[in-house]
Amino acid sequence: MMGLTAVAKTILPKPFRNWLKGLNSTRLLAQYSVYDFNRFHRHSSAGGLRGSLAHEDAEMTKTYHAIEKGLSLPVPRPGFGAIVVSRLANTLARRIRNNGPWTPACAHSLNALSAYLRHAREGSAAIPKGVEEVLSLAAERGLEISGKPTKPIRREDVEAATSFDAERFFWSRHSVRQFSDEALEAAFLLKAIDMARSTPSVCNRQSGRVHIFMKPEDKERILRHQNGNRGFGDTAGAILVVTSDLSAFVDPSERYQAWIDGGMFAMTITLALHALGLGSCCLNWSSPPQLDKALHRDGSIPAGETVIMLLAVGRLRESFAVATSDRLPVSEIARVIQ
Ligand SMILES: Cc1cc2nc3c(=O)[nH]c(=O)nc-3n(C[C@H](O)[C@H](O)[C@H](O)COP(=O)(O)O)c2cc1C
Repeated sequence: MMGLTAVAKTILPKPFRNWLKGLNSTRLLAQYSVYDFNRFHRHSSAGGLRGSLAHEDAEMTKTYHAIEKGLSLPVPRPGFGAIVVSRLANTLARRIRNNGPWTPACAHSLNALSAYLRHAREGSAAIPKGVEEVLSLAAERGLEISGKPTKPIRREDVEAATSFDAERFFWSRHSVRQFSDEALEAAFLLKAIDMARSTPSVCNRQSGRVHIFMKPEDKERILRHQNGNRGFGDTAGAILVVTSDLSAFVDPSERYQAWIDGGMFAMTITLALHALGLGSCCLNWSSPPQLDKALHRDGSIPAGETVIMLLAVGRLRESFAVATSDRLPVSEIARVIQ
């Protein structure tokens, strides 16, 4: 007996079938968008986490970073950003008084406020409310200023660090879809992730997270939800699930920042793996909600983390083929306005 689709194919004219397909596509787009909306609404600091500790940390990070940025300008203006600086001081003071957890965001905020105060005093600017108070409170509690909000960089050091054949480095990375069966140590992967901490992120909020699966049964459980690894995924020494923690995002306008910051984080991991001589292949996570839920469940991935992509990683064979994956010329992708 003919299936419904086959019957439709024989009796419905092609333009009508295309219209129906378009309608279905629109329906799915709406359904997936609602899923993404709900996830951001529930798990971000602009939604369900509003008022949580994670939200407070994200806001503190945003502001201490504004101070760091302000102080790194060619001519920092003494007393800049008084309103947000005062808000940061009050938030930090409340955290100290309540004996709340002393997170990295707190430590960096304290450092930034201390440098801010020094700079404002040197420039004879008004000191925003709460700044002197929180610094005294921190001193009373024995909380130390442990770092500086800016650091000096010398051009010659940057030049020394980049005096290698960068073109060769970038063009020698390929998506690897056949791996050697040599053992892959987790320490190697952690080294790559350590380097990938250098990835820029919005206001330095560092939402990127990685889940590393190395046991065959775990890799299999993860990969069965992904549609682009057939024929090679099972030969990878590790499967990485790169995610972005939605609690880092504090405003509705940041609704897609997880994919941007997470995507950049994944790219740096890929390049770091390449620098360490490992092969990797990005695996798309353009998945419908039911698969996304299944991956969260089977990988024990926290609900508040959005999956960006998977990475199949392994050691390189002595020689192997890769897809040519030719690139568009620069003239087609860049526009110079001068
Ligand atoms: C986000 C993303 C998802 C990808 N998903 C897959 C995938 O599911 N399966 C696969 O074999 N390759 C996948 N790739 C690899 C691309 O096919 C590959 O990067 C592209 O063809 C360029 O080739 P190259 O990486 O060798 O330079 C993906 C790449 C990216 C960036």
